[in-house]
Amino acid sequence: MKIAVYPGSFDPVTNGHLDIIERASKIYDRVIVGVLINGAKKPLFDAEERVELLKSVTADLDNVEIDSFSGLLVDFAKEKNACVIIKGLRTVNDFEYEFQMALLNKALNPNIETMFMMTNTKYSYISSSMVKELAAFKGDLNGFVPTQIIEKIKEKY
Ligand code: PNS
Repeated sequence: MKIAVYPGSFDPVTNGHLDIIERASKIYDRVIVGVLINGAKKPLFDAEERVELLKSVTADLDNVEIDSFSGLLVDFAKEKNACVIIKGLRTVNDFEYEFQMALLNKALNPNIETMFMMTNTKYSYISSSMVKELAAFKGDLNGFVPTQIIEKIKEKY
């Protein structure tokens, strides 16, 4: 059984994240989305809320599960028996940092591979920070985040 971990802050989950989750779920037997606890200093949604949002938008994907973690990603992946870490790449700007992370994670645990998935071009400019800024200025979130979480984001502002 090939298990993959897809880690991130997901504050909040965007359509770009969801696209990667859906595509990864077709490749791996199980995809475990790992929500980083206490990544950003002051997240908009706490880890429990981020897990709930992710659960609601992936409810139709049978082989996807959502969990949270703190500490090292490679330890979380090992605990989940995952052999792969999935990372989404939007632009070349993402690459340098992600390449460094992949090498570091490989040094920490050589049994775990990092696999990069290119974002769908439709979503290449979407990020959680951009979504938050848009929401703060009362912009239209349609098309950027799953529709079922739009109200939850608006409630925060
Ligand atoms: O969505 P993000 O904020 O870009 O996700 C970043 C994440 C969670 C993938 C990254 O911060 C991470 O892996 N954090 C766990 C700590 C860790 O293992 N760091 C790398 C070795 S120091």
